[in-house]
Amino acid sequence: MRGLEGKVAIVTGGAQGIGRAVVDRLVTEGVTVTIADMHPEFGPAAAAEVNSGGGRAWHAQVDVSVEEQVAAAVEETMLRFGRIDYLVNCAAVFIMRGVEATVEEWRRSNDVNIMGQALCVKHVAKHMAVQGGAIVNIASISGHIAQPEYVLYNSAKAAVANMTRCLAMDLADQGIRVNAVNPGTVWNANNERFHREVLKMSREQAEADPEIGGRHMLKRVADPEEIAGPIAFLLSDDASFITGENLMIDGGYTAM
Ligand SMILES: NC(=O)c1ccc[n+]([C@@H]2O[C@H](COP(=O)([O-])OP(=O)(O)OC[C@H]3O[C@@H](n4cnc5c(N)ncnc54)[C@H](O)[C@@H]3O)[C@@H](O)[C@H]2O)c1
Repeated sequence: MRGLEGKVAIVTGGAQGIGRAVVDRLVTEGVTVTIADMHPEFGPAAAAEVNSGGGRAWHAQVDVSVEEQVAAAVEETMLRFGRIDYLVNCAAVFIMRGVEATVEEWRRSNDVNIMGQALCVKHVAKHMAVQGGAIVNIASISGHIAQPEYVLYNSAKAAVANMTRCLAMDLADQGIRVNAVNPGTVWNANNERFHREVLKMSREQAEADPEIGGRHMLKRVADPEEIAGPIAFLLSDDASFITGENLMIDGGYTAM
């Protein structure tokens, strides 16, 4: 993909799952990466794996809902690499509650899933404006549909979808494109564990289930790499006229 090589990205939530696949894909394309993730073990491990494989990455211990930590990770990235071209906002918490959700649960969900993305954009924007840049926020099919007991998560993801349009408008003059991707069900380690422990399902069983795989036109769930590829595209110069867009990467889930 055009324009990625030699650039610098911050990937929040880059220690695991989709974020980790994004890190690996960007490193393959020649991008240097800050892995901004609060996980104290998987974060350093991800950076070590990238560096031992010949790529360039470091782990910033960051809770994206804490502004000072976000600001410090951004400034440290500038000190280390001298520029920031890309931001991928992957970090999220999954607080699956219905109407009984507490004030604390609402605040944590919104603080990480909405404000955390906005804070990262706020702190990278002035550095990106120097040479231009691109941002991809991770929303979800859940931001476009109703699901039982998902009201916190789905409300936050709907906010991300529209926040993306507003930020794209505000940052267009500075040469910064802002887009969102909306994945369907993605089979990462945490989702595998949830299906195995809570739903007592293997991947094959989940894909055959009318309420999981069957909700996607392609009758399956996605691998994290299938989300990372379109994200790399949206960051690249091949997407130079795309901004304010919500790209569905959902195997046809929301089209039917
Ligand atoms: N897995 C899916 O099926 C799916 C579907 C649609 C959208 N998404 C979205 O994709 C993104 C990645 O999801 P995933 O399933 O790969 O998640 P995951 O649980 O595998 O990884 C999330 C990462 O975010 C980090 N994180 C959590 N809270 C943080 C915080 N406050 N500050 C910094 N890091 C934090 C965690 O340590 C973890 O490494 C999320 O935005 C999620 O909402 C996932």
